[in-house]
Amino acid sequence: MTALLTVRDLKAGYGRVQILHGISIELPEHGNIGLFGPNGHGKTTLLRAISGLVRCNSGAITFDGQQIAGRDASRIVEAGLIHVPQGNVLFPNLTIAETLQLGAHRAAARKNFEANLALATEIFPKLRERWQQRVSTLSGGERQMVSIGMALMNQPRVLILDEPTLGLAPKVKDELCQAISRISDRGIPLIVVEQDIEFLMQLTKKLYLISHGETKAELSADNRPNNREIMEMYFGM
Ligand SMILES: Nc1ncnc2c1ncn2[C@@H]1O[C@H](COP(=O)(O)OP(=O)(O)OP(=O)(O)O)[C@@H](O)[C@H]1O
Ligand SMILES: [Mg+2]
Repeated sequence: MTALLTVRDLKAGYGRVQILHGISIELPEHGNIGLFGPNGHGKTTLLRAISGLVRCNSGAITFDGQQIAGRDASRIVEAGLIHVPQGNVLFPNLTIAETLQLGAHRAAARKNFEANLALATEIFPKLRERWQQRVSTLSGGERQMVSIGMALMNQPRVLILDEPTLGLAPKVKDELCQAISRISDRGIPLIVVEQDIEFLMQLTKKLYLISHGETKAELSADNRPNNREIMEMYFGM
């Protein structure tokens, strides 16, 4: 299967501190990938490097046949790689309506504003119900819906989600997981970082364990690990 996005032997970090020591992952043209691994081992750094927010020291990132490592973050967004960062990074004083409008800034997204809005509110009907509500007054789950809705307004060719269900109560988390599955059903390829491996395995057959800044394991439907094996991978037991 052809890959839409390929990361090869990526080394990156902050200043002189290298965090990623040779990561290789591949997002197929039609499908999703899941990333998991212990806290502080480089998952967010990898997503930020893909989005041009962290400088790459070496290695290659290819998106749709183009080398994007080292490109400006704004150009990477314009190409359609849309990143929803970990934790809700939103403007608290804006309403949902204003926030969604802000999301649509790629040229393609501005052209298809109404269709993208229809998709965002179909995936998250609550956004329409709370249209004029300020972000500061929303619950954590609702803010996450706004964050992902805002990304959908930018018509992603690939949607990158960094721990979208972090800190949510089980019922809210289930709702959000279902919404993320609906996004995938609409044909938008996803790169999802999550600690909930069960959810990742429902979403995709292709999972990578990121540990110590390296791709430590690649899992697929054929080598689906059991709980003990997952614990071993996490803690190196
Ligand atoms: N802006 C920064 N400057 C310097 N070091 C950073 C910066 N951001 C993250 N780091 C360091 O990079 C390492 C990897 O962090 P990263 O956020 O990528 O991990 P993570 O796997 O996403 O963790 P978590 O599961 O907690 O979200 C950590 O040691 C962290 O302290
Ligand atoms: Mg992280």
